[in-house]
Amino acid sequence: RKPRIAVVGSLNMDLVITMQRMPRMGESMQGDDIHYISGGKGANQAVGCAKLGADVSMIGAVGDDGFGAQILDRMNGFGVGTETIAVLADVPTGTATILHTEGDNCIVVVPGANGKCTPDQIQALTSIISGADALIVQLEIPLPAVETALRIAREAGVRTIVNPAPAAALTDEQIGLGDYFTPNETEFEFFCGASAETEEALFQQMHEWKKRFPQQTLIVTRGKHGISCLAGDQIVTVPAPIVSVVDTTGAGDSFNAALCFGLASGWDLERTLPLAVKAASHSVTVFGAQDGMPSMTDLEQA
Ligand code: RIB
Ligand code: NA
Repeated sequence: RKPRIAVVGSLNMDLVITMQRMPRMGESMQGDDIHYISGGKGANQAVGCAKLGADVSMIGAVGDDGFGAQILDRMNGFGVGTETIAVLADVPTGTATILHTEGDNCIVVVPGANGKCTPDQIQALTSIISGADALIVQLEIPLPAVETALRIAREAGVRTIVNPAPAAALTDEQIGLGDYFTPNETEFEFFCGASAETEEALFQQMHEWKKRFPQQTLIVTRGKHGISCLAGDQIVTVPAPIVSVVDTTGAGDSFNAALCFGLASGWDLERTLPLAVKAASHSVTVFGAQDGMPSMTDLEQA
């Protein structure tokens, strides 16, 4: 059977404005184009898992508005289970306004409905989480809801992946609820409270992390440098293939989705990590967060 995955997280409409350069403070300038693209870290990861062939339930919330309806349509189109998404009145669907220039992004996220996810909502969906092969969460919804989901999974012996994005103040106890912890380099610096700018410093901080969370597998995503993983007591780096970059939005989501897919399928890290790095590299060659996420066939051909 297909691996079963529960994703607990955000759904956003990404308003992507392409422009020649970033505006200066106080400046009013023209953009070239605006694209309305389904996004949100939770939704992106759910779509990434579904494209690879998983049976996915997305748990989250949208507003009772046009953006919410478009997002649900699109998720359904990818075969993601959306019955577990609350449609809330009196609050807008989350948005991410992304100023996109060649070489850089600036993003303003307004959580809207995502900010209304509660422990009660998650609790009511206990059977979905405990019946999954893996749970993946991010930090774009309130932490009490994230924590509730992780506790349910832990209790049921379901593998948990915490993608701590964007970085937010987690307690050690909350961090420890993740079997896998997948910050990018900036997020990792936030969580360990130290610089990890050079590879040497990064590796040292990773070993320090292992002392604090010995049961956890730490995977730091490093953009064009690929990923570094500390399982057992050894750091393994999987370099990323060189690709021509069109849009890096959602690259981390693509990695996390493929990681989750592999783990939910019962694969080991040796098999899963190269696949997940490949998936992220594939995703950056296409505009938008979800469109470049690969199917298994895409990956086998790459
Ligand atoms: O990780 C990328 C996502 O982050 C975008 O789709 C946007 O919605 C922001 O939340
Ligand atoms: Na992309």
